[in-house]
Amino acid sequence: MSDKPVIFVTRKLPEAVEARLSRDYDPILNPDDKLYSADELVEISERADAILPCHSEQLTAEVIGRLPARIKAIANFSVGYDHVDVAAAKQKGIIVTNTPDVLSDATAEIAMLCMLGAARRASEGVRLVRESGWKDWSPAFMVGRQVTGKRFGVIGMGRVGQVAARRARGFDMDVHYTKRARLDAASEEALGATYHETIEDLLPQCDVLSLHCPATPETKGLLNAERIALLPDGAIVVNTARGALIDDEALIAALKGGKLAAAGLDVYNGEPRDIHPAYRELDNVFTLPHIGSATDETRIAMGYRALDNLDAIFAGREPGDRVA
Ligand code: DGY
Repeated sequence: MSDKPVIFVTRKLPEAVEARLSRDYDPILNPDDKLYSADELVEISERADAILPCHSEQLTAEVIGRLPARIKAIANFSVGYDHVDVAAAKQKGIIVTNTPDVLSDATAEIAMLCMLGAARRASEGVRLVRESGWKDWSPAFMVGRQVTGKRFGVIGMGRVGQVAARRARGFDMDVHYTKRARLDAASEEALGATYHETIEDLLPQCDVLSLHCPATPETKGLLNAERIALLPDGAIVVNTARGALIDDEALIAALKGGKLAAAGLDVYNGEPRDIHPAYRELDNVFTLPHIGSATDETRIAMGYRALDNLDAIFAGREPGDRVA
């Protein structure tokens, strides 16, 4: 028997990450990439000293309460940790970490794809060509919205929000934002970003609104009917953060009623199986399946970052990305 810590890795990870895991730890891997039930998560954890989960696993208070005392850490393979009941982990003395920074570029790319896909009617365009519905071309055909030179609004100007803002500047967009702690003057200047003290102040300035804040009890349903009403008519909403930030009924009503031109979504309430059916049907919604961080480089970097955190924990040091 090895004396290396046993790490329960809940999903299949990139080869390079699993190789490092096997070199430095005694990992319990998931070669079939099975989605484990709560009972299976608890059962497999009986043999482990730490868990390396993804956002696909719900580590609720109930699950955490059933984890064995030997579990020292939950080292997430994700920047978001809304799938973990952090208070329950804390109470049990379990360290929780995440993987910030390394996925900002990839996620900002997807924010741009969502913006352009929504603005230029990509869902309709793809469907027309694929389903052989494309019969004609005319100046009135598939006319969308140009984003160049328009206003790009960010709620949650953290790591991803700032990269997305920089990319939007590449389209000569004017950046507007709100954030709990205002950026310093140099960062604001570098981004050419205008600060608004409240979400309500920001919304009327957004031709495109991009959400980049974490899902917390405070941000749940943040984009609701009252706030959507404050956006300019014909605005576009982009969400690459978490579905929970949006009140689906309100967004769908605004998309159906013409208040909003379009939405570009990578994340959803109830994902993956139970998303609002209107998102599958509406032509003015451009949809992706939560792939913000899905590039080889980023997924490897996320895995290494989770392992850096575990290395620190098992060496008795403070992990760089501790959230609890
Ligand atoms: C994250 O890291 O939070 C991404 O959404 C993938 O889980």
